[in-house]
Amino acid sequence: MDYRRLPFGSGTVAPVRDLARLHAALLPESPVSRLGRRFMEDFYYRVLPREGLVVGAVAYVDEQPAGFVAATPDRNGFMRSGLRRGWPRALWAVGASVLTAPKSLATLWWAWGAMRSRRPAADGKPAGEILSLGVLPAYREARFIRQSGLHIATDLLDVAVGGLRGMGIQHIGAAVRADNTEAKLFYAGLGWRLHGPSTAGRGPAAVEFRWRRAGRSTARDAAIPASSVRR
Ligand SMILES: CC(C)(COP(=O)(O)OP(=O)(O)OC[C@H]1O[C@@H](n2cnc3c(N)ncnc32)[C@H](O)[C@@H]1OP(=O)(O)O)[C@@H](O)C(=O)NCCC(=O)NCCS
Repeated sequence: MDYRRLPFGSGTVAPVRDLARLHAALLPESPVSRLGRRFMEDFYYRVLPREGLVVGAVAYVDEQPAGFVAATPDRNGFMRSGLRRGWPRALWAVGASVLTAPKSLATLWWAWGAMRSRRPAADGKPAGEILSLGVLPAYREARFIRQSGLHIATDLLDVAVGGLRGMGIQHIGAAVRADNTEAKLFYAGLGWRLHGPSTAGRGPAAVEFRWRRAGRSTARDAAIPASSVRR
């Protein structure tokens, strides 16, 4: 079995199509998904990684996309900075989504507001955030884990945390919807602790829990190299 992680952001081009497909399939209710494929492919995963505002990795098993992680070194300001630098493209992408997908304008308006509403932190301290993380169900099954020895979600989280740390970010959070039990168990199981409920920038339907990473690395298998491994 061939397993590799393709990191993106900070000068590395993101595999936009794979990211958009994985994001839409795994997190269909998220504001980013609701803004549509064009928004993801032409702005969110193209402009923001190029500017170093969104970083992350895609995991491939036998060359098939299996999971992804996206994180930001500036959880409060990344979207504003991105829009400042690439607003024509963002506007075009949202416009194209409205024309090509049969979504209600109200839903789009909510998603757009949720994305834009993050404000810079009052204390001005840089803080990172795991924005999205997901692994396709087939690669989470007990049988796959037994055969491959891979915990792809944990591995991707390690890549993202390592990347943010490498950028000098010490405070890293992850926002999880209150009804996402699997994700809450996932973070708790890795030693992250609940920091408190937060609704900032997420819209009415998504009261969230913010987790702050506690202590040392989450790495289960420190022997896995950062770029690729064959099993
Ligand atoms: C959240 C998600 C990424 C976790 O993926 P995963 O494949 O279960 O993660 P891992 O196999 O790496 O699990 C790591 C650890 O998390 C914990 N965990 C994960 N699911 C759990 C569950 N249902 N019950 C208890 N603990 C759980 C365990 O500690 C587990 O370690 P173990 O298997 O040795 O017990 C996955 O459920 C997913 O992709 N969900 C859809 C997208 C999503 O909701 N993303 C989160 C919000 S951005």
